[in-house]
Amino acid sequence: MEFEEVKKGLAGVIVDDTAIASTDSSGTLIYRGYVAEELAERSTFEEVAHLVVYGHLPNKKERLKFSNLLSRNSRVAPNIDKIMGLLPRNAPAIDVLRSIVSMMPLNENEDDGKLLEIAAKMPRIMSDWHRLSKGSLPLRSTDGTYAERFYYLLTGSKNKSDARLLEELLILYMEHEFNASTFTLRVAASTLTDPQAAMTAALAAIKGPLHGGANAEILDYLLQMKSTSEARRYVDAKLRKKEKIMGFGHRIYKNKDPRAQYLKERLRVFAAAKGAEKLYDIATAIEDEMWKMKNIPANMDFYAAICLYLMGIDSSFNTPIFAASRSFGWTAHYLEQVSNNKLIRPSSRYIGPVGMHL
Ligand code: CMC
Repeated sequence: MEFEEVKKGLAGVIVDDTAIASTDSSGTLIYRGYVAEELAERSTFEEVAHLVVYGHLPNKKERLKFSNLLSRNSRVAPNIDKIMGLLPRNAPAIDVLRSIVSMMPLNENEDDGKLLEIAAKMPRIMSDWHRLSKGSLPLRSTDGTYAERFYYLLTGSKNKSDARLLEELLILYMEHEFNASTFTLRVAASTLTDPQAAMTAALAAIKGPLHGGANAEILDYLLQMKSTSEARRYVDAKLRKKEKIMGFGHRIYKNKDPRAQYLKERLRVFAAAKGAEKLYDIATAIEDEMWKMKNIPANMDFYAAICLYLMGIDSSFNTPIFAASRSFGWTAHYLEQVSNNKLIRPSSRYIGPVGMHL
């Protein structure tokens, strides 16, 4: 067998074809041919999820069927809450989500049904865990659209305009071709493991701070800052120490992340409505300083974390929110991988010792 060397981290390496989404360094992100920001602005979560999973926007009948499937599967079995009750109260929500997804019983039979059933249950698992760990009773509503239900489960409130911003954010988080968690899922799927196991693998990968875990760390530094000059000093000091600032940088987007720019504009208006202009100014000062000092753009997580904060959503939800939305992208990738499968099994260059004997 001939071996070919590729770049570390597979940077810039095309490993397979996909018809689901495409990104490029000029800052264009498309889902099945449609520009992601346009979908975020004009479509519902259900429509975009159907597009991503099945390759086309749903007609009325398909939309209803898809929405019903998500709504029907949004509840979790009562014994799941009992299992959650046995977990340590301080367990991170993303760990709980991964653990529950790995073992919960499923009703749907086909692969797509199973994957969507798991995806549909994620908001409820997160909500039940959050409330249980705080000693409150679970919320029980399954009314409304996916985003309205999700927003209610996260906040206990039914504010439709906040739910709409959440919907846009969820649409932008939904799919991103061969990112780390999706690639992990595809590796798992390529072994022909089952959908539930593949989703569990993806949930393990999304937790890391270089990927989905970044959005949980942004408020930790941002909310400490009192002024734009303090924000600039923070960036300079971090860069001098060669430390990373969460919410900045991207493997693909070296100039701008289109999702971040979309949310930035939405945040400008949203922050003004909430009387949080100063927070917006501090955020943009950090972004400007990062660009000035190192030409590193803000990524989606940066502005998503601030939007979620102003929506009153607890930051422990940030990474699970990303995962819940991305689970629809993972669904599409599982189906695409198994429909034209080849085991993903690369080789390595051995650099360890040789000729050792006992
Ligand atoms: N803060 C400070 N410096 C950075 C950052 C950052 N956030 N990101 C990259 N750099 C620097 C890095 O230190 C390196 O500098 P130098 O060339 O002087 O050694 C240079 O930029 C190239 O960085 P890299 O880490 O080699 O680039 P990459 O393409 O391998 O990494 C990344 C991409 C996302 C892992 C990285 O930018 C990072 O660690 N960012 C912070 C974590 C983060 O926000 N992750 C969320 C990504 S977007 C949502 C998602 O899809 O998960």
